[in-house]
Amino acid sequence: MAYETILYEVADGVATVTINRPKVLNALNPQVVSELDQVFRAIDADPEVKVVILTGAGEKAFVAGADIAAMSKMTPGQARNFSRQLQKVTQLMEEIAKPVIAAVNGFALGGGTELALACDFVYASEKAKFGQPEINLGIIPGAGGTQRLPRQVGKAWAKELCLTGEIIDAALAKEIGIVNRIFPPEELMPAAKKTAATIAAKGRVSTRAVKELINFGYDLPLDHALRLEAETFGQCFASPDQAEGMTAFLEKRPPKFTGEA
Ligand code: HXC
Repeated sequence: MAYETILYEVADGVATVTINRPKVLNALNPQVVSELDQVFRAIDADPEVKVVILTGAGEKAFVAGADIAAMSKMTPGQARNFSRQLQKVTQLMEEIAKPVIAAVNGFALGGGTELALACDFVYASEKAKFGQPEINLGIIPGAGGTQRLPRQVGKAWAKELCLTGEIIDAALAKEIGIVNRIFPPEELMPAAKKTAATIAAKGRVSTRAVKELINFGYDLPLDHALRLEAETFGQCFASPDQAEGMTAFLEKRPPKFTGEA
């Protein structure tokens, strides 16, 4: 598949998706959104891919938001559809079985913060900046900023960020729970790749189960979610990876997971 606005590579089970419009700080226009949809569908279908890293091209930005030039011409109906299309990409990222790590290398504003929040966790460069500045454009976040952000950081921080449009640094983003870990800029991608490789070596039945249970159990009543966990725990025992993992432990050797269901 040829993409014009993203770079895509797969090595050793790890796919790297790089949003590639550095002249406009990787702003998301409808073409980027459509290509992200295509690439995450391709990732979902590709058995070679076990883990994904999402990042931005250039030194300055992960994604500085939706493309304001493109949005400035939208009718209300087009804007609604654009919002739904980007929301659907974020839901696809959550729904695919493969973990997605955000490597935030610079500005992650508006749709950039929202894309990062749809990843399973976020690694950030010391230079990264986060925020929901849509309020300064007379609009609101449209890809999860009013919904995923409060689930991640609590309602009070989500309201402060969405109401003020303030841009915060990586340290504060880590303090409030947007970012897991911060690295010097040159160490960001090596760290994301190292963690991706660690996860890629695990059993795929269990990595999928962890992602699904945490994503979809989180909003269920606890008793329902715990029952779902127990069912899924039981299903793991039908996989060759469970037999291999436990046999390897008992034989005092590293496991070699096949990822078969
Ligand atoms: C279109 C953008 C852009 C954007 C930057 N550019 N962000 N173009 N859409 N979101 C362009 C600039 O116009 C400029 O183009 C070039 O990228 C470099 O940006 P500068 O502003 O010159 O850089 P700098 O002074 O360093 O400022 C960086 C910045 C600023 C603070 C990130 O660019 C900025 O505030 N950008 C907008 C951020 C924003 O409001 N994001 C939210 C968008 S709404 P030229 O041609 O002049 O070189 C949104 C909604 C999501 O995301 C939901 C949708 C459904």
